Amino acid sequence: MARRPIIAGNWKMNKTASEATELIKELKPLVKDAKCDVVVCVPAIDIPAVKKAIHGSKIRLGAQNVHFADKGAFTGEISTDMLKEYGVQYVIIGHSERRQYFGETDDTVNKRTLAAIAAGLIPIVCIGESLEERESGKTEEVLSKQISLDFRGVADFSKIVVAYEPIWAIGTGKTATDEQANEAIGYIRMRMKKLYPNKNVGKLRIQYGGSMNAKNCKGLMAQPEIDGGLIGGASLKAQDFATIVNFDK
Ligand code: PGA
Repeated sequence: MARRPIIAGNWKMNKTASEATELIKELKPLVKDAKCDVVVCVPAIDIPAVKKAIHGSKIRLGAQNVHFADKGAFTGEISTDMLKEYGVQYVIIGHSERRQYFGETDDTVNKRTLAAIAAGLIPIVCIGESLEERESGKTEEVLSKQISLDFRGVADFSKIVVAYEPIWAIGTGKTATDEQANEAIGYIRMRMKKLYPNKNVGKLRIQYGGSMNAKNCKGLMAQPEIDGGLIGGASLKAQDFATIVNFDK
C-alpha cells in the first residue's frame, strides 16, 4: 500500500499566539482539499491558540520537542501529557538545531522518541549530515550511526515519521537536488529495513527537509522515496505552505 504523504510545518521560534491565529486563519481555506496529512509544529506557548484556530480543519497540531520523563524537576521542559491535553498529535524530535545549540544527543533523541511513542504521539525524528560530512563522503556513515542509535527499541515504524534533513540545506536556500534527497532517503529506508526487520519499516514515512519551498516541492515530492516534507521558512507564509501541501495539484 502506498504511504500517505505528510507535509509538516516547523515554525521554529516564530509567531506569537496572535500571529499564529492569523496565519492559521489564512491557511485553513487554502488546504481544505489536501490529500496528504497536514501538520503545523508550533512553539509550545502557541499551542492553545493554534488548537482553537485549526478547529474544524484538516490541519493537525504538532510540537517541536518533548521530554522523556512523565513529570518532575526538568525546568523548561514539556511532558507528553501536557501536549496531549491540548490535542497535540505530532512532535518533532532531534532537530539539528536542538542537536547543535541545546546539547541534544542520539541518546536523548532515542529517549524522547520512545516516550512520545509510548504516549501515543507521533514523533517526527530528524536525522541528516553536515556539509563537511557530505563533502568528505561520510553521508551514509553518519546516517547509519543515527539510524542505529536514535531508533533503538522502536517496535513499529508505521507509528513514527523520519525527516531526512541535510544540515547544509536547512535555512540556507540550498536545497538538495531531487536525486540527492531521493538517494539519501532510499539509503535510510534500506538501512532501516536491515537493522529493524519485521518492524513495519515498509510503512515508515520519510520526509525531506531543508529549504523545501513552493517552487521545488513538486520535483521533490515526485521522487519515489520521498513521502513528504518538513518545512521551515516556507511554512511561515500561508500561500507558500499551501502550495506545498497541494503539491499534487
Ligand atoms: P527550512 O527548515 O525549510 O527553513 O530549511 C527546515 C527545517 O529545519 O525543518
